[in-house]
Amino acid sequence: MILVTGGAGFIGSNFVLDWLAAGDEPVVTLDKLTYAGNLRNLDALADDPRHIFVRGDIADRDLVARLLADHRVRAIVHFAAESHVDRSIHGPEDFVATNVVGTFRLLEAARAHRADLPPTERDRFRFLHVSTDEVYGTLGPTDPPFSERSQYRPNSPYAASKAASDHLARGHHHTFGLPVVTTNCSNNYGPWQFPEKLIPLCIHRALAGEPLPIYGDGRQVRDWLYVTDHCAAIRLVLEAGRPGEVYCIGGTSELANIDVVGLLCRILDEESPPADGRRYAEQITFVADRPGHDRRYAIDHGKITTELGWRPRESFETGLRKTVRWYLDHGDWVADVTSGGYRDWIGRHYAADERGLTPARGADG
Ligand code: NAD
Ligand code: DAU
Repeated sequence: MILVTGGAGFIGSNFVLDWLAAGDEPVVTLDKLTYAGNLRNLDALADDPRHIFVRGDIADRDLVARLLADHRVRAIVHFAAESHVDRSIHGPEDFVATNVVGTFRLLEAARAHRADLPPTERDRFRFLHVSTDEVYGTLGPTDPPFSERSQYRPNSPYAASKAASDHLARGHHHTFGLPVVTTNCSNNYGPWQFPEKLIPLCIHRALAGEPLPIYGDGRQVRDWLYVTDHCAAIRLVLEAGRPGEVYCIGGTSELANIDVVGLLCRILDEESPPADGRRYAEQITFVADRPGHDRRYAIDHGKITTELGWRPRESFETGLRKTVRWYLDHGDWVADVTSGGYRDWIGRHYAADERGLTPARGADG
């Protein structure tokens, strides 16, 4: 059995569904169900005996120890995190609690559990730590992409907390011999992504006739990867990645934000034309920039491609169209997650001013 943390979130739920579609090894999902976690993402597994869901915190030592022992867990795939950069600017402390302290406690629980396993199972045990390209900071326009050799230069509280968790994971491997493998991935998109992130936010707001907020000049570049490609990479790394190694994962799909939203609007024009003959691009609104906004991310995924044969299968255009169709078909899910607390967040973060929308500053700004 494997333990998946954060399996009710965006990437975690895609991973659990793909895992059980690809094989029969059971999964126990541990998720705190924060605003970003939603059990509905796992509805398809409600009657599946291969899946157990437990609501709880990765920082709960007793609970994690019990789960590892009771289910004789042979691997942990660790997705659970506070994941939104803008929220880390408004309130960084939760990011330290989950991403740093939570990851530390999970590593400690894994260490104790592994020590109790018989030698053959001890050798097979894996801790797969899912991380981000944001730990490497920002690139200039002509810099080579990030790779496993890039220096750590995190620029936001989110990135700093993920960097700290990467270092803790590395330390547990180096000092205690815990078989940790770390992945650092670029921006994901696809089904079940919470509509606070750029792509689902813009799909939701476009359909609602609301402004599409573009930070700064919109020329910041991200390297986009369809979530299913990320899940496939994680399955491969779990199976064949070498303990102590890091694997960078990316889509070789660098695009400026304004071009992402432009393409999104064109796809929406085709898939769900506005009734009044307008174009969705007319809703694009430039707003104040994100404090400390990283200019460019890009990933060189040569290592995982050479060693494990992974490469992205989805192009950005095909992946984006699939994503748009998924959101059009899942209006009930979107309505569910955009009630209550979501509205508070949008109201707080995108405070209206005379130009339309202005992202509010962090607590000190
Ligand atoms: P998400 O915010 O959609 O989901 C996070 C999940 O973790 C939620 O279900 C939440 O309830 C759960 N969670 C939060 N705190 C918890 C705690 N203390 N205990 C147990 N569960 C907790 O995030 P995501 O976008 O799916 O990202 C998953 C992982 O992948 C994160 O570690 C993130 O840093 C990393 N990552 C994300 C991206 C991306 O583009 N989304 C890219 C690279 C890496
Ligand atoms: O690079 C990997 C990271 O990608 C992950 O580690 C994070 O968990 C994930 O949230 C994502 O971080 P970003 O900050 O890049 O994603 P986000 O969707 O928030 O923003 C993408 C880009 O779009 C970024 O340059 C900021 C910009 N943006 C975002 C929002 C929400 C806007 O211009 N307007 C917006 O309203």
